[in-house]
Amino acid sequence: MKQLRLSIIGFGTVGQGLAELLFGKEALLKQDYGLDVKLVSVANSRHGFIYRENGLDISMLLELAAARRPLTEHPGVSHWDNALEGLRATGGDVLAEATGTNLRDAEPGVSHIRTALSQGMHVVTANKGPAALYAQELFALAQAHGVQLRLESTVMAGTPVISTLREGMAGAQVQAMRGILNGTTNYILSAMAAGRDYTDVLTEAQAQGYAEADPTADVEGYDAVAKTLILAALVFGRSLRPEQVARQGITHITREQMQQAREQGKRIKLVASLRLLQEPAAGANTQTAPLEARVEPMALPENDPLARVDGVINAIAIQSDTLPEVTVIGPGAGRLQTGQGLLSDLIAIARK
Ligand code: HSE
Repeated sequence: MKQLRLSIIGFGTVGQGLAELLFGKEALLKQDYGLDVKLVSVANSRHGFIYRENGLDISMLLELAAARRPLTEHPGVSHWDNALEGLRATGGDVLAEATGTNLRDAEPGVSHIRTALSQGMHVVTANKGPAALYAQELFALAQAHGVQLRLESTVMAGTPVISTLREGMAGAQVQAMRGILNGTTNYILSAMAAGRDYTDVLTEAQAQGYAEADPTADVEGYDAVAKTLILAALVFGRSLRPEQVARQGITHITREQMQQAREQGKRIKLVASLRLLQEPAAGANTQTAPLEARVEPMALPENDPLARVDGVINAIAIQSDTLPEVTVIGPGAGRLQTGQGLLSDLIAIARK
């Protein structure tokens, strides 16, 4: 049995989603993967960092979090006010970084990730800020310390897009990709197409835990930009800045425009795209060709594979030299759906 000592920093929707899966799937992880995950530390911004050498009781932590009671009520724990200090003092095998996304400077997540990698911990994260702004630096840091950094749940939650691109499609030269990468806006646009009101639906998406803490990041396209930057780094090896992505959100779209598009047999979707502007020669390095990056609402004909992807579901269509078009469709947000991406990354780490 392989044991992984895990730290979860960020115990909101995503961190709790991972904890719930670890609790519910404990027997499966042991039986099918020979994996014993021991949660040794947890932190949130309100109650600081707690650690217990022999492992924490996950169901108790989930109950405390649901009741908004301090995590320090868990018996037998050591406590630090500051997560970084706690992490430095206690360590572990893997950090699951699940603090909220900050697209300005990626803090505090990027500091948690740098610290963990530098002290030889693997990192799995759902946090889009560090992945969008510092992917190349963080992968280099992971490599220098002989550990893994895995980001599956940063794009399309637990739907396996990053592993499809990096592992499943290894060796294929990707030329372009188009995707619906934000669950909240797709949920809103789908409901508006069915005649519902923007504000009601946004409130619903927030209640379901799909939207960012500030939903402007969703509806103005910044979240989709972050995911576009992550894909640009992982697939095309580019460190683009947010302002290099042409961006338009969905706030100006009216219900009438949605219905009109429908009458014309079209669906309005917020589409993120990356496209090499010159086709690279076979076998050539794609890192030098100019790359176009865009996030914008588009009226898609109904026979487009992205047109019928509705609700919180996301999709990405990938074009490459060997596989003309691969489309991956699946949940793009949600507590357990995002937790699933962290879980699959944990299992991938344990397998190596
Ligand atoms: N707010 C994001 C979305 C969460 O709606 O897609 C998942 O990244």
